[in-house]
Amino acid sequence: MSTYVTTPIYYVNAMPHLGHAYTTIVTDTYSRFRRLCGDDVRFQTGTDEHGEKIAEAAAKEGISPREYVDKISAAFQATWPKLSVAQDYTIRTTDKDHVKTVQDILQQVYDNGDIYFSEYSGHYCQGCERFLTEKELVDGKCPDHQVAPKQISEQNYFFRMSKYQDWLVEHIKANPEYITPERYRNEVLSFLSEPLEDLCISRPTSRLTWGIPLPFDEKFVTYVWFDALINYLTGIGYPNGPDFEKYWSVAEHVIAKDILKPHAIYWPTMIKAMGLPAYKRLHVHGYWNVDETKMSKSIGNVVRPQDLIDAYGVDTVRYFVLREMSFGLDSSFSTDSIVARQNSDLANDLGNLFSRSLTMIVKYADGKVPPPDQDPESESDRELMLAVEKMLVAYEQHMQQFNFHKALQVVWGVIGLLNRYIVTNAPWELAKDEAMAKRLDNVLYSLAESLRIITLVLRPIMPDATGKMAAALGLSEAFLEARLPEAGKWGGIEVGTAISSPKQLFPRIEKKKEQQKQAQPEKSKKGKGKKKEEPQITEDGLVTFDQFGKFELRVAEITAVDTIAKADRLLKLTVLAPEERTIVAGIAEHYSPEELIGKQVIIVANLKPVKLRGVLSQGMVLAAKEKFEDGSEKLVLSTIAGTIAPGSRVA
Ligand code: MSP
Repeated sequence: MSTYVTTPIYYVNAMPHLGHAYTTIVTDTYSRFRRLCGDDVRFQTGTDEHGEKIAEAAAKEGISPREYVDKISAAFQATWPKLSVAQDYTIRTTDKDHVKTVQDILQQVYDNGDIYFSEYSGHYCQGCERFLTEKELVDGKCPDHQVAPKQISEQNYFFRMSKYQDWLVEHIKANPEYITPERYRNEVLSFLSEPLEDLCISRPTSRLTWGIPLPFDEKFVTYVWFDALINYLTGIGYPNGPDFEKYWSVAEHVIAKDILKPHAIYWPTMIKAMGLPAYKRLHVHGYWNVDETKMSKSIGNVVRPQDLIDAYGVDTVRYFVLREMSFGLDSSFSTDSIVARQNSDLANDLGNLFSRSLTMIVKYADGKVPPPDQDPESESDRELMLAVEKMLVAYEQHMQQFNFHKALQVVWGVIGLLNRYIVTNAPWELAKDEAMAKRLDNVLYSLAESLRIITLVLRPIMPDATGKMAAALGLSEAFLEARLPEAGKWGGIEVGTAISSPKQLFPRIEKKKEQQKQAQPEKSKKGKGKKKEEPQITEDGLVTFDQFGKFELRVAEITAVDTIAKADRLLKLTVLAPEERTIVAGIAEHYSPEELIGKQVIIVANLKPVKLRGVLSQGMVLAAKEKFEDGSEKLVLSTIAGTIAPGSRVA
């Protein structure tokens, strides 16, 4: 099968921002997904370089349009590899072959009688670069640009778009997948329920020269949209290039809702007038806002891809935008939301699962994938294999429908299940019992195999991180060849594959301010100079309610565990309570790091922080201790009898 998928070609009057990055990441992810399914894929992006907006922006900078477009299109091209976007072709509308194709098409449509010369007067919005109908105006203004359009009366060339209205309505109705999500399909059909006007496709050179000259009248240049949409054909060598036949029949365009009308109405009618078959699918997404506000230069809240990559790394950025936005709806970006996704989904859930599983294989199986010995009686084995199988089916469906957030939800369902599988099967306990050696092998095999499949399905989303995951799983080469659905079948990892303990895949982002606050709870609560009141035990050895109330006990969830150099008995726990803090606990002889991750324990949360062996301890973990006659001790951490939100008060 072949896949041809495109982004819009971006105007070069502004530098790349989160919105451009999103559409391009989505398109890259989809193209990687189709490749993973074995398709021959062509992925195209590019820049839209003609028109009034660009000419104006260049004039503002005091440089020629040519110099200007070269500069900004280079900035777009430099952004994509940083976002791990790997397009097959980058088109610029100032490319010679594109200019020629546009002129050839204009001539053909003109010769066929679908372009005519006429006078028009109407409301022209410069921002939209088109005439708006009376109905589109809100309080006399363009609703998108909030400015009153200019009243322009001018002779121009027109494309007989109205001629194809009935065909278009029929085509959309007969092909429910043509425009998705459905809300946008309905929007287009509703617009088409009114008579369609013809499209003005020229600009007189007296007003604009920065455009493609009409082949049949040199006093005019081509309207930027008629020029721009044709990029989707030029890029695959229309009309005679070898790739054209292969890719045009499967063309899929990805856009945001702002350019729905040109893509769902102008473009299909233009294609029809050229005598070509319709494109296959149009995928329309919503808008990224920032902190619930429109992203705009004047507000000064434009989010730049480079800043995000610097702060969070490319994998987090890609994961975040795909997981956070429901394709089709608007979404709001905030620093808190991306930090939360990195810490919770990536560092805690995926990162910990990965490092804890691989560390156990290194420790208990000599760093080699042990042989499986599935236990038909084991509820947890059956549950795991079934869940992985179901996940793969749902993942493929959601990815195909551009429901990336849902695809990620189902993958994270399995990640959660695997974390529970580890707790249920407690490999560290199995390792203590010779008789359980086979069971231990099987649990470790199941972990390695599940991680292989998770790595595979996350590859289109996080190409860099999954490359590291594949290397740690000893899969680098086979991984590149793997194709779904075959590669998703259980049993793909080879027994004996050498596993290595991975470096931290996703570092947690420390919230510095909160930590500082946490480190000085007394100061912030009591104010300076006031003597601290210590709870004191009364003479009869009892404490009052008041005194006990001074201890703040909270539920804390352990998210990471590290050993401390030259301190065999101590472990450094990173916990959420609900903010992140570190606690040093003398429990290393009683617990291994991997069995602690994910546990909810009880801590004293308002102890004055102290440094132990150079590590700041911001609280104390409660535990029960039993002493035996031979002097040995058993220590069991105090936990809570159910799961509760980290940070809940224990009273
Ligand atoms: N040049 C035209 C497109 C021609 S395609 C034949 C154009 N360019 S643009 O630079 O304005 O890009 C618009 C596209 O950028 C949107 O459709 C979307 O893909 C992306 N985004 C720009 N701002 C966005 C948000 N705030 N949120 C999400 N994506 C948005 O229109």
